[in-house]
Amino acid sequence: MITALVGAQWGDEGKGKVIDIMASKADVVVRATGGNNAGHTVVSGGKTYKLHLVPSGILYEGTVCCIGPGCVVDPLALLREMEEVEANGTALDGLRIDYRAHIVMPYHLLIDELSENAKGENGIGTTKKGIGPCYMDKAERVGIRFYDILHPDVFADKLKTNLAAKDKYIGGMFGYKNTALRRARLKFGEIFKAYTEAGKKLAKYAADTTVIAYDAHKEGKNVLFEGAQGTLLDLDMGTYPFVTSSHPVTGGFCVSGGIGPTFIGECIGIAKSYTTRVGKGPFPTELFDYTGDFIREAGFEYGTTTGRPRRCGWLDLVILRYAVRVNGLTGIALNKLDTLTGLKELKVCVGYDKNGEVITDFPADIHELEDCKPIYETLPGWTEDITAAKSLGDLPQAARDYLAFIEKHIGCKIKLVGVGPDRTQSFEA
Ligand code: IMP
Repeated sequence: MITALVGAQWGDEGKGKVIDIMASKADVVVRATGGNNAGHTVVSGGKTYKLHLVPSGILYEGTVCCIGPGCVVDPLALLREMEEVEANGTALDGLRIDYRAHIVMPYHLLIDELSENAKGENGIGTTKKGIGPCYMDKAERVGIRFYDILHPDVFADKLKTNLAAKDKYIGGMFGYKNTALRRARLKFGEIFKAYTEAGKKLAKYAADTTVIAYDAHKEGKNVLFEGAQGTLLDLDMGTYPFVTSSHPVTGGFCVSGGIGPTFIGECIGIAKSYTTRVGKGPFPTELFDYTGDFIREAGFEYGTTTGRPRRCGWLDLVILRYAVRVNGLTGIALNKLDTLTGLKELKVCVGYDKNGEVITDFPADIHELEDCKPIYETLPGWTEDITAAKSLGDLPQAARDYLAFIEKHIGCKIKLVGVGPDRTQSFEA
């Protein structure tokens, strides 16, 4: 069976942990979108793994872990990450990288940085990992793919053409005062050497991952599609322009993972018991008070990739209903219920008030969202430590009521509950 695991909010929903749990039963895990802008934290056996591009299933021996066609790969960053994984005692034999994946080049990193800096206060708040500029080249059909760095002749031609174009673009867009910086980062010889050497090291992992996923499915094996980012960061479905440049929704896994939609058996949305986001953009239930700080500290809400403090707020069911709809969710994995322990009461957003009008569907444009004030219902909190809970029956009544309230309002079953960072601190509901 193929199962898709997708972020139901603005990313950072604890996907790494859920994927890691489900990967214990998976034969193949596929990352279909995004790059090392993602940060998946997996805690296992007392060790903490921070994975950015390597699929979380790598921690299980024998699981084939694919970096799929729609991913963007910074090969130098990937090699550093692979070294860390190996240093932790984990073998990388199961890793596969699709030939079609696009390569993040030094000029993408440079353009991401210059572009964000030039926008100043109006920037998107990207991770500056070159993700957007790499996807721009892909859409413009001038991108360099994994296949190319494995074939130096093809790579040399494309690199020469791209470097000349990027030099003009960067000079024109950001002014020639950046010339020194530009020259330092855009030298053909150095880039060619570094990337072909990286290509040589990564060559043994090269594959057509669409065939691997399809064959495994045909043989009745378990295939997991591992989402990165989240629904509200999707280029079309998210809070544009404060989004990433790929499609981290279940439909995106089909397009970017090369798997037909009818092959997907289950779509699980991963959500936190509250809401967070990093970067800029509207966030109706954001808290600027003691409760926001409480959630940030109790939930260790600091970015895995950038270390930035995350913006924190109450759970927003308008968002979760939207995620159920656009992803066709068949279940929810609700993480970090333990973070809410100790709060006297919990507010849950059930709709928006937009200048007197009640809105229950997530608005299509951020200008509308900016005018939306959350309509809250208040539920009692709990004080009991729930981090050792192994079933719904181990939770205090108030926590069970909180889960039941969510299910009723979003029309989707909560199938997994997370009560702590370790892979053992979760149970099926
Ligand atoms: P980019 O993907 O680096 O271009 O960043 C675009 C937006 O997506 C920014 O608001 C980032 O903070 C956000 N973003 C990208 N990746 C993640 C992630 O894995 N978790 C949460 N936010 C992310």
